[in-house]
Amino acid sequence: MKVLIISSRPLERQPSELNTRGDTLLCQVLPDLVGFPVSTARTADALLLVGFPADARLLEAVRGCVEAAPDCAVVPVLGNPPADYVVQLMQAGAVDVASSPFPQDMVAAVERLRSRGTRNLAGSQPHSIAVISAKGGDGATCIAANLASALARCSGVRVMAIDLSLPFGDLDIHLTTEQSQNDLADVLEQSERLDAALLDTLSHHVSDGVRLISSPATFERFVGIQPAQVTQLVGLATRSYNFVVADLGNGTDPVSLGVFDLFERVLLVTTLDVPSLRRSAKLLRLWRGMGRDCSRVRLVVNRVSSEPEVPLAQFASTLGVEVAYQFEDEVHGVNESLLEGRSVLETAPSSDFSKTFQRWAAELSGTPIRKDSAWTHLKHLLHVG
Ligand SMILES: Nc1ncnc2c1ncn2[C@@H]1O[C@H](COP(=O)(O)OP(=O)(O)O)[C@@H](O)[C@H]1O
Ligand SMILES: [Mg+2]
Repeated sequence: MKVLIISSRPLERQPSELNTRGDTLLCQVLPDLVGFPVSTARTADALLLVGFPADARLLEAVRGCVEAAPDCAVVPVLGNPPADYVVQLMQAGAVDVASSPFPQDMVAAVERLRSRGTRNLAGSQPHSIAVISAKGGDGATCIAANLASALARCSGVRVMAIDLSLPFGDLDIHLTTEQSQNDLADVLEQSERLDAALLDTLSHHVSDGVRLISSPATFERFVGIQPAQVTQLVGLATRSYNFVVADLGNGTDPVSLGVFDLFERVLLVTTLDVPSLRRSAKLLRLWRGMGRDCSRVRLVVNRVSSEPEVPLAQFASTLGVEVAYQFEDEVHGVNESLLEGRSVLETAPSSDFSKTFQRWAAELSGTPIRKDSAWTHLKHLLHVG
């Protein structure tokens, strides 16, 4: 990987370890960001901006680099920036924020980029995905759970699934039969000291590649949830995992509205009927009215049948939103999935439903999906392992 470090002062110690790992390291000094030539980012796979103040100029530089060089991963290096500023950096297109200019922290930041494949791995595909239901029961939770599961089957991909369908989400039942030791409220209680390692420890380990934060188990635990803490959590998860998939439920509560713009993709899961069309139109009007960026919204059409109440083309054109994917009814696989707490990719691997998820995940991650071996199927049948 070509790593370019632009710092406001000469670095006391360069992360020269990168050179021995096969990366090419280049360092430049630029006293301030006025007139910063953003096209410089085109010469590198990763650009670290070190020692610049956490202000509007740095945001502008990040935005400019991302526009000029979409394949370059831009990483500001800042000591303890305020959570709000980190959110603004992510919105400007920074893929990570490193905590200090010590060589080991910069090497760790480059390693994180390598493990998430930087931006080049899958071009400009989104890595943070919110899933919202057009109307209750349209399938947002089912789509979110199976998308998380499908992504985690792609080589080297780690996924954080977060249940923000408040107050009572049910993302967990699609993925596991075990009760999570910590729910969203427990994780947020640790906001002050939350880092990537603690987040991984507190989340529920569904499988090697899937971590889950379930919604609070009781209403009393839900009332204490602060939207600002959720924003911080989503930002940290986005920096720490290859993908974040969040179930935002009906997309109208303060928490969902607060995190909406953090996601690179917002999937509106809908069935092709009049109530869902009316509700989708209302949601889009609400989000636009509140200044949310709706260019990132796509439709996922669920439970398609040969005779929909509203034809797909008419549905999409009425809303002015593109369709990302369509799924048919998969009653058997979904029922088994809920009974067994395993994704449909495991309960009905050869269904059209699972195959569509496999194609989608491969497209998003840029790597082919791993198929279960015959031995894995046998183990499930025999209930061993
Ligand atoms: N494509 C599908 N085929 C069969 N059952 C589905 C499908 N999509 C969703 N379901 C089932 O429909 C019910 C409602 O889905 P859910 O994901 O909970 O909706 P939402 O989160 O939008 O309220 C659940 O029992 C779910 O498993
Ligand atoms: Mg739901």
